[in-house]
Amino acid sequence: MYADTREATEISGQMSSTLSLGHIDEPLLICGGAYGNLEALEALILRASDHGIPTDRIIHTGDVIAYCADARATAERVRRLGLLSIRGNVEDQLAEDAEDCACGFHEGSACDVLARSWYAHARGQMTLELSAWMAALPRHLTFSMAGKRVRVVHGSPGLVNRFMWESLPSADYAGEIGQACADVVVAGHTGLPFTRTLPDGRVWHNSGGLGMVANDGTPRVWYALMSPGRSGPEFTHFALDYDHALAASKMRKAGLPEGYASALETGLWPSLDILPEEEKSRTGQPIDLSELNGQTDQAAA
Ligand SMILES: [Fe+2]
Repeated sequence: MYADTREATEISGQMSSTLSLGHIDEPLLICGGAYGNLEALEALILRASDHGIPTDRIIHTGDVIAYCADARATAERVRRLGLLSIRGNVEDQLAEDAEDCACGFHEGSACDVLARSWYAHARGQMTLELSAWMAALPRHLTFSMAGKRVRVVHGSPGLVNRFMWESLPSADYAGEIGQACADVVVAGHTGLPFTRTLPDGRVWHNSGGLGMVANDGTPRVWYALMSPGRSGPEFTHFALDYDHALAASKMRKAGLPEGYASALETGLWPSLDILPEEEKSRTGQPIDLSELNGQTDQAAA
């Protein structure tokens, strides 16, 4: 279905492997980090089937392994199902058997301390086969849809672990999308869903996290559909309910940090260290799907 050509692209001095998918005129399902949450992944595969989307039209924006218990099983499932996955910072680190996740957390912060625990668990579940698979994953995907150039990245086009929060100024988005040489950027890493349309029509989309809640006080996780529209790709966000109680119990059994196990149940992150003030202020406020899907960059000018 896709042109399978790889090219080496230099972005900000960083050699990036980009997989070009050519032109796509069918809907895609977009999901953020599975984070080792096998129950959420299985629920997503069922939901994709409901949408009529085969697994080779599911884009996963990286960090297949992180907070949750089933690191190996989740990565194996993504690999065997043939999801279109890119390398997140976690794949980068695990493929090199590095000592830490390079998530971009401040040293000594609560997120940093918690990451030491889940990263060690993830590292302990790696196999040589999975390392080789992660090392071979592309860093970016590119394709065209409805006349627009699309680039899929993990953090930002030039930095795998940059947090592109929704509240950042328009200039940050304009700069990053320009660097991507694209009209539309699909990104992950932050774990919060939003679609931001700049005044000039360029778009930044984040489907949110598949394997971790969005700090909105609900146990829902997130994905999106990307479909060709009249004047470019159109995004629709969806919430996903799944067996979060089972996923949380597995984490406790594995001795993983209680903060993230509880988060799957309460919908609240164990630490807000990394969040800007605007995102912090939304803590515990359930995301309104219609608002999420109707949002535009009104405040961008
Ligand atoms: Fe990440």
